[in-house]
Amino acid sequence: MKVDIEKFGRIAVITIDRPPVNALSQALRKLIEVRLDEAAGDEAVKGVVLACAGRTFVAGADIEELGEVRPPTLHAVIDKLEALGKPSVAALHGTALGGGLELALGCTFRVANRDARLGLPEVKLGLLPGAGGTVRTTYLIGAEATLKLAGSGNMMGVEAAQGIGLVDAVFDNDLVANAIRFLSDRIDADDIPPPVRHRREAMPACDPQALESLTAELCRKARSSAPELAAQSVRNALTLSFEDAMAEERRLFETATQSDRFGALRHLFFAERAAAKPSGDVAEAEPRAVQTVAVIGAGTMGSGIAMAFANSGFDVIVRETDEAALARGMERIADTYDRSVKRGSLSAEEAGRRKARIAGTVAIADLASADLIIEAAFEDMAVKKTIFAEIDAVARQGAILATNTSYLDVNAIARSTTRPADVLGLHFFSPANVMTLLEIVRGDQTAPDVLATALKLARRLGKQPVVVGVCHGFVGNRMLQARNADLSQLILEGAKPAQIDAAFRAFGWPMGPCQMQDLAGLDIGWRNRKALGETDALPDRLCELGRLGQKAGKGWYLYDDNHKPQPDPDVDAIIAEIAEIGGIARRAVTDAEIIDRTHGPMIAEGRRILDEGIAARSSDIDVVWAHGYGFPRDLGGPMYWDDHLRESAQEKKKV
Ligand code: 3HC
Repeated sequence: MKVDIEKFGRIAVITIDRPPVNALSQALRKLIEVRLDEAAGDEAVKGVVLACAGRTFVAGADIEELGEVRPPTLHAVIDKLEALGKPSVAALHGTALGGGLELALGCTFRVANRDARLGLPEVKLGLLPGAGGTVRTTYLIGAEATLKLAGSGNMMGVEAAQGIGLVDAVFDNDLVANAIRFLSDRIDADDIPPPVRHRREAMPACDPQALESLTAELCRKARSSAPELAAQSVRNALTLSFEDAMAEERRLFETATQSDRFGALRHLFFAERAAAKPSGDVAEAEPRAVQTVAVIGAGTMGSGIAMAFANSGFDVIVRETDEAALARGMERIADTYDRSVKRGSLSAEEAGRRKARIAGTVAIADLASADLIIEAAFEDMAVKKTIFAEIDAVARQGAILATNTSYLDVNAIARSTTRPADVLGLHFFSPANVMTLLEIVRGDQTAPDVLATALKLARRLGKQPVVVGVCHGFVGNRMLQARNADLSQLILEGAKPAQIDAAFRAFGWPMGPCQMQDLAGLDIGWRNRKALGETDALPDRLCELGRLGQKAGKGWYLYDDNHKPQPDPDVDAIIAEIAEIGGIARRAVTDAEIIDRTHGPMIAEGRRILDEGIAARSSDIDVVWAHGYGFPRDLGGPMYWDDHLRESAQEKKKV
């Protein structure tokens, strides 16, 4: 870690260098402060460029150290920069995020590389910007634009940032040289605006009502009240003096860093990165090159996988068994892209480029050119074994063969080929072009370089990978089965489906298990039970009556034309009848019992998964649940919740 200072005529360039992302630790802040003092004390220096070495400008405060207050604070460093008495310019490349953008706001100007991105992502950690990010930004770009940035945590490109006045100039190359020239020109022209803190008067106007509805929308989208913190601070920027608004922002920030929510979200931040990182023999392996990907099966799953790859620039071949099935699959793909264009989330040109990357075939021989072949066919071992034997016969040497099975034994599938070392599971979640989770299933014989390739692919696809071992249902679906194992019994004892779903939503889930089963189709579980020779009287009866879920217009609920679920007295009658046959006494079941009897077994299964080595870390399980099943991020994942929050939540309820 170092911070250099170098003079180019009358301009001093201070370069921050702390790989990998120049995160502002306390030690780094100290070094920056020293260089700022040097620049301030040097008479010959008339202006300062603040730049970063490596792949990015400062990507924020050091998340490891958040919550500690050790001088010099970031506030103090930014104040010093703002009070240099000489104009300064931040030269932004890569990502200027959180404390990084706040540092840049301490400069008189901001210039950037064309591909740089800016953001205030603190909300994703349950925080708000803590060093002027809401106050100075509001002065510069207005309350609404600031809230959009700080309340969503999304990054913004530099052209948009220039459009709203957050960036003063954009360059295509030679950023630091251009920053020096930019500052020199401004000095020569005597065109130096006051520090941002003194630009309150020039602040763009804002409609308070628009601010309120934006806040509500941000909270709804985030399924969290965290954006309210930024909203409160933006309101303060409008109504309080600079000093008071800054003090209040800092107080809100410090309180938020002591919250359970921040603890949980910080845990997920590091958990996600740990899960994506190759370790052991995989870290040493060289990933194989992949450009052409073949997908076997053009059903919902197969077409989703094909789009996920096409969206990230891969060439894709979709293979179906007959022309009619292939045509249906290709139509499904085209429809999805057309809908995105209609919604405005994709341009017609980009949709065209993506469609053009996907070719269809019925000839298995056409898969010979693929670097990776993913089977997404019917969930049946015999079918999969036949397909893998076929692929084995045509795939080129060195191609990776993957199955998208959700439950089946990847080792058995691998053994149906002559090259089990090239076989692994790539378990995408539906819809595969949208959902971020990718369970990478390591078979007994999967080669390290095959796993290294899968992890690299996940990054290119923008997916969150988690490496798991072979067992029935891997991490996610195995725990889901455990979560739902007691569901029928709970209902027969007296908890209605609507009460169960409401208890789940109150916990923070996007939907409860009954609604989820209705959405996926109750026949999935029914078919599985039949295959295993098992029964579950209540859902079996619903299926026998044609209540297969939303697609049938009825399942646990009755659905209207807008797919809105309504409790159905017919279901109540079925429940009462089966409870009576089983001699089950009906009683009131509390929401707390519902959570205990579903989440308890799920977590116990997670512990078994860890003991068996199916997941490498407890935090990997949390990542699976946060990305694949909508476990509330604010609670950190099921294992984190159980280890850190469950008891204190119960205690709070008792009080
Ligand atoms: N603090 C500490 N470590 C950080 C960090 C940060 N702010 N940002 C990234 N890292 C670490 C990661 O943990 C990872 O470490 P590892 O290699 O040991 O696993 C390494 O840097 C590289 O990170 P990524 O794998 O995420 O690299 P990418 O290139 O994919 O992404 C990034 C780079 C976009 C900068 C991404 O890391 C990111 O979004 N970082 C977090 C940014 C953030 O949240 N900033 C706000 C912090 S809070 C704040 O600033 C408070 C202030 O208002 C007072």
